[in-house]
Amino acid sequence: MGWFNDLILFLHFFGLMLGAAGGMSSAIIMRRAASLPPEQGQVIRGLGPVLANVSAAGVIVLWITGLIMVWSKWNGIGSLPTLFWVKFIFVVTLTAAAIAIHMTYADVRKGNTAAAARLPKLGPIAGLSALLATFFAAFTFG
Ligand code: HEM
Repeated sequence: MGWFNDLILFLHFFGLMLGAAGGMSSAIIMRRAASLPPEQGQVIRGLGPVLANVSAAGVIVLWITGLIMVWSKWNGIGSLPTLFWVKFIFVVTLTAAAIAIHMTYADVRKGNTAAAARLPKLGPIAGLSALLATFFAAFTFG
C-alpha cells in the first residue's frame, strides 16, 4: 500500500499549500491595506475572511491526512518518534489560532469591528506555528 501513503502525504502537502497560501496572501494584503486611503483599504480587507477560509481548509486537510498517516504509516500513536510531539505542540497552537481567527471574523460580521484588532496578533501566531510545525516535521520524518 505504498502508493496509498504517498497519495496521503501528497494531500498532506496540498493542505500545507492551502494553509500557507491563505496566510501569506492575507499578511501581504493587510499590510497593503494599512498604507492605502481608508475606503480603498476597506475593499481589499474584504478578502480577509475569504483567505482565512482557504487557510482553515488547509488546516482541516492537514488534520485528516495527518491522522490517517499516524495509523497507515506508523501503526498508531505509540510508535511515533518523540520529535513528532514537538511538531504536535505547534499543530495545536496553529489550530487554536485558526479557530480564534474564525471567531474574530464572526464577531466582526456581527458588528463588533473593534474585534479586528486581534487579527494582527493571531495571524503571526498562526504563521509562526505553521512554520515551526513544518520545521519539526522535516526533522522528525526527513
Ligand atoms: C493533527 C495534525 C497532523 C498530524 C497527525 C500529522 C502527521 C504527520 C505524519 C504521520 C507525517 C509523516 C509522514 C511520513 O511518515 O512520511 C507527517 C508529515 C509531515 N507533516 Fe504533518 N501532521 C499534522 C499536521 C501538520 C501541520 C499542521 C503541518 C505544517 C503546518 C504539517 C507538516 C508536515 C510536513 C512538512 C510533513 C513531511 C515531513 C517529511 O516527509 O519530511 N503537518 N505529518
